Amino acid sequence: MRIFKNGERWMFDAAAEFYGWMTWQEVWRAHCRSLVDYFPGSLPARARVLDLGIGPGVSGISILDRLPEAEVVGVDYSPRMLAVARGFLERTGARVELVEADAAALPFPDASFDVVVGHSFLYLVPDQAGVMREAARVLRPGGGCVFLEPHEGGSHRAWMGLAGPKRFKLSMALWRLVSGRIRRFEARELRGLLERELAEVRVEETLGGLGLVGVGRRRGE
Ligand SMILES: C[S@@+](CC[C@H](N)C(=O)[O-])C[C@H]1O[C@@H](n2cnc3c(N)ncnc32)[C@H](O)[C@@H]1O
Repeated sequence: MRIFKNGERWMFDAAAEFYGWMTWQEVWRAHCRSLVDYFPGSLPARARVLDLGIGPGVSGISILDRLPEAEVVGVDYSPRMLAVARGFLERTGARVELVEADAAALPFPDASFDVVVGHSFLYLVPDQAGVMREAARVLRPGGGCVFLEPHEGGSHRAWMGLAGPKRFKLSMALWRLVSGRIRRFEARELRGLLERELAEVRVEETLGGLGLVGVGRRRGE
């Protein structure tokens, strides 16, 4: 039985405070930071980074930890998630521009970002092909795109073996549970989705096999 239906904004509004509490912890933040390792090598100092589905802000703020000069813009369509993100931004003094919008209709000009990321985001979206089209449109030619998504493979119990505090294990257990009700990707499915719009696509396992990182570049440089 499907408990959750993806694409329902109220669900994210309702979960915003809890999700912010659960993910504002060092292991989750370190993991968000590690997305920077997949960014293309030739980035300007003030790289423009778009974080799709920024939620309570943890992913965007963590990227800034690694790239303090970057201009990070976070998009989310949940006003409650963005309110929680504003709270974390105030607390940390981090500078992230927050924009309330649907990722399938981004309010940005073509080629206006160096990198587009999505951490735990694409699997929640009904129109994944539309979001990929928009991600590619706003990327400059040669710009990089990185998505971290739940993996269909991997053991249900893998989260127990992951190093980290109880709150991190809780976040991973819920991620596994919720993604099972919504969507998880096989590596070839995530690759296929990225290859619709991007070149040099590769997909790797992460989080003890619970997650997949998909990386690609916009054609044309
Ligand atoms: C699981 S949270 C991930 C938050 C953050 N990236 C992280 O990893 O901590 C996914 C976020 O995507 C947002 N979202 C889902 N579908 C969206 C859409 N079509 N457009 C914009 N945001 C969306 C939700 O509101 C939610 O805040």
